[in-house]
Amino acid sequence: MTNPTRLPAWGALEARARTVGERPMREMFAADPDRFRSFSVSLGDLLLDYSKNRVDGDTMGLLEALAREAGVEAARDAMFSGERINATEHRSVLHVALRNRSARPMPVDGVDVMPQIRAVLDKMKGFTERVRSGEWLGATAKPMRTVVNIGIGGSDLGPVMVTEALKPYQRPDLAVRFISNVDGSHAAEVLKACDPETTLFIVASKTFTTQETIANARTCRDWLVGKLGEAAIPRHFVALSTNGKAVAEFGIDTANMFEFWDWVGGRYSLWSAIGLSIAVAIGFERFEELLDGGFSMDEHFRTAPLAANMPVILALLGVWYGNFLGAQAYAVLPYDQYLHRLPAYLQQLDMESNGKGTAKDGSPAIWQTGPIVFGEPGTNGQHAFYQLIHQGTKLIPCDFLAAAETHNPLGEHHLMLLSNFLAQPEALMRGKSEAEVRAELAAAGMGEAEIAIQAPHRVFSGNRPTNTLLYRQLDPRTLGMLIALYEHKVFVQGVIWDVHSFDQWGVELGKVLAKTILAELSGAKPVTGHDGSTAGLIEKIRDWRSN
Ligand code: F6P
Repeated sequence: MTNPTRLPAWGALEARARTVGERPMREMFAADPDRFRSFSVSLGDLLLDYSKNRVDGDTMGLLEALAREAGVEAARDAMFSGERINATEHRSVLHVALRNRSARPMPVDGVDVMPQIRAVLDKMKGFTERVRSGEWLGATAKPMRTVVNIGIGGSDLGPVMVTEALKPYQRPDLAVRFISNVDGSHAAEVLKACDPETTLFIVASKTFTTQETIANARTCRDWLVGKLGEAAIPRHFVALSTNGKAVAEFGIDTANMFEFWDWVGGRYSLWSAIGLSIAVAIGFERFEELLDGGFSMDEHFRTAPLAANMPVILALLGVWYGNFLGAQAYAVLPYDQYLHRLPAYLQQLDMESNGKGTAKDGSPAIWQTGPIVFGEPGTNGQHAFYQLIHQGTKLIPCDFLAAAETHNPLGEHHLMLLSNFLAQPEALMRGKSEAEVRAELAAAGMGEAEIAIQAPHRVFSGNRPTNTLLYRQLDPRTLGMLIALYEHKVFVQGVIWDVHSFDQWGVELGKVLAKTILAELSGAKPVTGHDGSTAGLIEKIRDWRSN
């Protein structure tokens, strides 16, 4: 498929956007007392309410037709059956196999990958249990108290996001920390809090060639060797990678390497050996519950009809706003402090997957593709950027997420949090008309002249769309469902936009230029071949660093 704008449903949706797309949701709620029931879907303890969107049944029908015409079902089946759908890298895309909790085989090139997945899971389980029980001893015969994951991108964001999200399941005597940035301050600050005798480093890198990760791993190795000597490395360093050769060259015994495979994309890898820091943090049984949650969403995605399919619905709503109603951005707003890294995680998942301007056949994508993703936990975001979402000139669809039950029942906190979580989408949907504002100000005793000045600034146009994801409690299973939900959403959108969602060539150019500039900054090479700005900045840095 190419050029989705030529699909029959696309034209129909363009026409519909001019009518229903502008119709006030307020009216639609007033006209249909069943709207919440009709526009919500549940899976286990996860509820998606999408009734506060600018859609009616016919619009959803047309969006589903678009999904069908774009071949979403066939593409989904191709992914699950191990076809090489990552065509620019000639790879299968089988992160779903990592959390396949059934007896169903998952083939890559006709070979079932489940036995190797189970073997690595067993190895992770054994290691996790030895570290957590204190059986795994460091070079000075002490048990591990701090685990440091060294990785970046998918080898960092998934593990960070999940370990933060599942903090209530962690033990206070086993800290998990992360080093990702090549800025030496990151490693320096983490190492300050570590005792070399009780620190275990997990070097997480699919390729084991990523500049930032290798630099950070070398720094940590030097730090450890400086304190405990070279012989300490095997007791304090393990690796997660697809590249055994590079792991061995780095000096980590491949017996202490946890393997994964090229059909696991970096930003889809937290379910693989890359999740080792998660398993150590929460225990292997809890890690398996996370996999169970992912699997239940996979089964739903694979089998539910498009009209009742949670990832498909989320994807189609994103397409509706991005391609037909002019939205450029999309906000993720967890009313859940434990999900404070979810927006950062989703930025990579979504923007690295669908931030593409070339269609699969190599022609330019002349339609909008992936949105700008941003977000912060509520209620902090309310006191920062919600002003623009409520009254700005841009349409920003939002996802609101919250748990009905808290892990920390402190006084009224959770009810206050939930009241905000419910109030914001309601306010965004309803808005406040000028007549309502005027009546309110008059009732408060304001004079007519002042009302004339004030009223326009206090009007809320409303009709601003939101999805609400409500779950009972943030536990490993629910989190697994949520992550898989977003993975499949991004997948469906990539199919409709006809882009290659599983490569990331856009990160390469800067990497190459940085290598040249590194040599120039260190004075090893003359500064040549740059634009005037870059050359001027290099000279300035060299000047300041040498004087
Ligand atoms: O940013 C590019 C990227 O390749 C990501 O896709 C990936 O998650 C990250 O770098 C880290 O890669 P690796 O795990 O190979 O170190």
